[in-house]
Amino acid sequence: MQHVILITVMLHLESPIDAKRWCADQRSQGQTLGFVPTMGALHKGHLSLVTRARAQNGICCASIFINPLQFEDHGDFDAYPRDTESDLALLEAQGCDMVFMGSLGEFFPEVSDLAKIDILPAGPHGSGLEEKFRPGHLDGVRTIVERLFRTVGPSSAYFGEKDFQQTLVVSDLAREMGYPNIVVCPTVREDSGLALSSRNVRLSPDEKNLAQQIYPALLAAREAWQSGERSPDRLSAAMTGHLNHDGLIVEYAEVRDPTHWTAQLPQTPLERAQALIAVRIGSVRLIDNLRLDQ
Ligand code: PAF
Repeated sequence: MQHVILITVMLHLESPIDAKRWCADQRSQGQTLGFVPTMGALHKGHLSLVTRARAQNGICCASIFINPLQFEDHGDFDAYPRDTESDLALLEAQGCDMVFMGSLGEFFPEVSDLAKIDILPAGPHGSGLEEKFRPGHLDGVRTIVERLFRTVGPSSAYFGEKDFQQTLVVSDLAREMGYPNIVVCPTVREDSGLALSSRNVRLSPDEKNLAQQIYPALLAAREAWQSGERSPDRLSAAMTGHLNHDGLIVEYAEVRDPTHWTAQLPQTPLERAQALIAVRIGSVRLIDNLRLDQ
């Protein structure tokens, strides 16, 4: 008996113009396109998005572009991990059909001076928390994601829940554009509970030990919720109690009603709650979150 092994060869396109043409061609053939936007330095969290996009669509495509518009800190942009060769191999092994890259100028061909790109405001879900500590970050995300959606014209786009506020902002964008369907996928964690992040590779072993305090803090908030606590103040305090360590700087450890986003901490008891944390450990900034009422 003959065994046939099917090897999918991933197409690697260097420019958004080529990607746009290829995606339009796929759509004209009736294919559904599942899209995973990334900034590279891929880990199992990204690959879980590709697996989901692959399973739910005829075609799965991804982008790798480290978007300078969403880095308010140039040092963070420069230090962002880059490993294109490994990224391409991982995407291909995961069954991605096409990946594209591009430069800022190629994403905004109509702009002659890249300092003058029209930045789209993130909208109401961009206010508070991330905005306070990374002003302009979510505006930059919305601006590039809009271009990426216009390039691909996806049926569905896949985002990790770890970037919770980002998922709210891109869901607003998709609603306003009339597409795509946004699929928010669960955070992938190490056995220790630490959320996978491209930035984790920049942590020293000691710093990683500190980073591993984030998840227990989120679990403390969930435990408080399960014991009947509904006060936003006290749920937040349950987290900060766990984050009191030398070398770990808490930017925020707060709860929000995920269905009624507020820039500030809500003042009345919650019916639904999302606990959100951002910390700095050395030069690395990490974020994580957990739904408390599920
Ligand atoms: O989550 C990310 O990796 C980035 O914010 C995204 C969505 C690829 C936009 O640059």
